Order: sequence, then C-alpha cells, then structure tokens
Amino acid sequence: MSQKKDIKPAKGKLGILIPGLGAVSSTFIAGVKAIEKGLGEPIGSLTQMGTIRLGKRTEKRRPMIKDFVPLANLSDFEYCTWDVYPQNCYEVAKNAHVVFGELVEKLKEDLSAIKPYKAVFDQNYVKNLKGTHVKTGANKMELAKQVINDIETFQKAKKCDRLVMLWCGSTEIYKKKSAVHSSLEAFEKGLENNDPDIAPSMIYAYAALKLGIPYANGAPNLSADIPALETLAQKTGAPMCGKDFKTGQTLMKTILAPGLKARMLGIRGWFSTNILGNRDGEVLEDPESFKTKEESKLSVLEQILEPELYPKLYGDLYHKVRINYYPPRGDNKEGWDSIDITGWLGYNMQIKVDFLCKDSILAAPIVLDLILFLDLAKRAGFTGIQEWLSFYFKSPVTPEGLYPEHDLFIQQTKLKNTLRWMMGEELITHLGREYYEK
Ligand SMILES: NC(=O)c1ccc[n+]([C@@H]2O[C@H](COP(=O)([O-])OP(=O)(O)OC[C@H]3O[C@@H](n4cnc5c(N)ncnc54)[C@H](O)[C@@H]3O)[C@@H](O)[C@H]2O)c1
Repeated sequence: MSQKKDIKPAKGKLGILIPGLGAVSSTFIAGVKAIEKGLGEPIGSLTQMGTIRLGKRTEKRRPMIKDFVPLANLSDFEYCTWDVYPQNCYEVAKNAHVVFGELVEKLKEDLSAIKPYKAVFDQNYVKNLKGTHVKTGANKMELAKQVINDIETFQKAKKCDRLVMLWCGSTEIYKKKSAVHSSLEAFEKGLENNDPDIAPSMIYAYAALKLGIPYANGAPNLSADIPALETLAQKTGAPMCGKDFKTGQTLMKTILAPGLKARMLGIRGWFSTNILGNRDGEVLEDPESFKTKEESKLSVLEQILEPELYPKLYGDLYHKVRINYYPPRGDNKEGWDSIDITGWLGYNMQIKVDFLCKDSILAAPIVLDLILFLDLAKRAGFTGIQEWLSFYFKSPVTPEGLYPEHDLFIQQTKLKNTLRWMMGEELITHLGREYYEK
C-alpha cells in the first residue's frame, strides 16, 4: 500500500478559465448551472456518477469517486472566458442550440452574466473565422501579458482561491514542433519577436502556466504540447494535459478496436466519415485545420492494434477519416464507421456503426471531469504532464519518446489506480489469487 498523498483541501472558489466560448463551453456551463439548480443530471461524468472499487471484492467497498477524493464543489465555480465574438454565454448557447427551449430560458440570467474577454486571435491559424472581438498589442509577449492581466482581474473580482484553464477554442491549423518550441528561452524570445510558429492557443497556455495554473487542451492543435511549455509547467508547478476531447467516433474506435484485438480478429479496413453542421464543422472545412484533426483521429488505431507485432492481422489495415460540414445537422453529428474484419481462415466480415450523437453533450462532462481532476492534481502537488488523464483525449500528451496509451480500458485502469495511489489505497491488479488460496 502507498502512503496517502498530502492533498490541500478544496476550499474557496475555483475559477474556470476558458478560451473559446462556443458550443462545448456554453453546453458545459449551462449544464453545471442546470445541475446546481436540480434541472438535470451529470450523465457522462465519471467524477459525478462514477464509483471506485477499493480493496478486495469481498470487502464490498465501492464509494462514489467524488466521496473518495477531495474534489471542488460545482457551486464554487466561477467562469472567465475569451472569444473572438462578443456574445455572452446565453446568446452563444441559444445559437449553438444544444441546450435549448425552456431549459436555456431558465438559465438566462446566469448565462447572460458570462461575457467573454477580447481574444488573442490570428486568422492565419483559423482560416474560416473572422474575429471582431480581438486584442491588439505590440507583440505576442504583450498579448500574453494582457491575458495574465485578464486572469488576475477576474481572480480578484470573483475572489477565487484556485484557477484551472481549459482550451475550448477552435482547432488551429496543422503545425509541427519547431525550434521556437524547443526551449522556454527560445519561446519567450519568440513571443517578443512575434514568431509566426507561436499560435494563439500557445499564448493562453503560456499565460496560465506562467502563473502556475493547470492547463488542458480540448482541441488537437499543439498548444502546450511543446518542450518549452512542458518546462514552464514543471518550473511553476502546474499540471497539464491534452489533446483533443475523446467524444464521438474516436471514443467508439477506442472501445471497439481493443475488443477485436483481444480476440485476435483481423482488421483490413476502417472507414470513418462524419457530417457535422456546427461552427466546429465550419472551421474543420478548412483543409489546414482538418489536417490537425485528421492526424489526431488517425493516430489511435495504429497504437492500439500494433501492426508491427501482428502483421497478419493488422499489417495491411487501410484507415481513412473524413469530416464533412453539413449545416442542417448543427451540433447533431452523424459518424459512420464501416469496418472490414477477418476471422478464422481469413474469412471476411463487416461491422457498421452509425452513431447519431450530440457532440457537445458528449464533450461537456469531459470538460467538467478535467477541471475537477486538474484542480485535484494541483492540490496534490502533481506537476507537468498528467498521463492518467489520457482517458479523456484522442491524442494524449506524453513525454518525448514514450508512446501514448489509447485503449480506453487501460486508460480507465490507469486513472482509477492513480486515484487509489493518491489516497494510499492498494492498487488493483485483477490477479485475484487470494480468493482461491486457503
Ligand atoms: N464537441 C466535441 O465533441 C469535440 C471533440 C473533440 C474536440 N473538440 C474541439 O473543441 C473545440 C471547441 O469545439 P466547439 O464545438 O465548441 O467549437 P465552436 O466553434 O462552437 O467554439 C469554438 C470557439 O472558439 C472561438 N475561438 C477561436 N479561436 C479563438 C481564440 N484564439 N481565442 C478565443 N476564442 C477563440 C470561436 O470563435 C468559437 O466561438 C474545437 O477545437 C473542437 O475541435 C470538440
């Protein structure tokens, strides 16, 4: 058994900092407000609905996760947002049409009070948006200082004890790590010199990490996933994680693929296509933003299936991912998967999945869990990359040279064992010999 970690109590208010007040963040905020008022249930949230087994099966100890680890209360949340458009959270939620009708009207007063700060924005990074509510500054360092000033003003006004930042902004264009990302020194020089490889999402991440605030990235763009910002997180004692919420099609993929592999069934092809009509879909119409998303969505199968170990089963796998912008559907995404599998003696079979999902309804509970777990991690003194939170991401951030685990069930075991370890409980290996040894 490990020693219980020294975890500071979750007392006082928790300020939630969100760059990007769009469909996901407005659905998350409206959801938390609705839950607080008893108007809805936090379905999909592990922190709110999940339990954790402790000790032997015969002990029958299965507390709720929220009763096992000291998490912040939802009623202690305060919200600070940034967006390239000035609409308040009520207007954004009405427009996104995910939480709608009577429910959104009941939340009107609370949501209308949440107004975004001007954004750090550069259209070169998100081609299909024309932002009007945007900061100006002599260079990128100036812009970072403006974000720091927003954070400090908000914290003071709302009397927040602790803060967490989560990027819910649009997917930025595809960029590889470059020299300016390689060290904190190079990055800070790059901020002063307006280096074009420093994206707006990196400027928010820099501002948060500089203040020691935990940071998570819900989109697939690099953002904090660069050596410079990992160093900064270590230096200031901030936990960080990302990238790209694992919600619809990729969630299904990381549930199905480990199951097929566990039974040593072959996979010849996996064709995934989506139609989506919200602003995220519009942004992803731009080939450069789509490329960022495509890389993130494609990476999972290769790691789960390990074709290098199983060339006869997965060596010739053809994996294709498409996203088509189709306005009539709004946030109601339809994701099709057509999977060509092989069985005994090489006989071919097919699986079809047609997931009619609501993108932001799947993402909102992930936002909530990440905020609560990152705040917990900070109070427990964890710093840098938090791989135990890869359960929530399509492209989990890992240190250089370590491949990420994509299998949802390995990720879940890692997450729960981290909570057990944190609280000084025995880790669960599922060996179970003790039940049979007299
Ligand atoms: N919904 C899901 O299931 C899901 C899953 C995985 C990842 N994501 C990612 O989460 C992000 C949010 O998704 P969404 O559906 O809410 O999209 P959205 O388009 O509704 O919201 C994104 C918001 O970010 C704003 N924005 C863009 N650049 C900004 C900047 N530099 N600063 C501040 N605001 C900025 C946009 O104006 C927009 O309001 C996207 O990147 C999306 O790819 C969503």
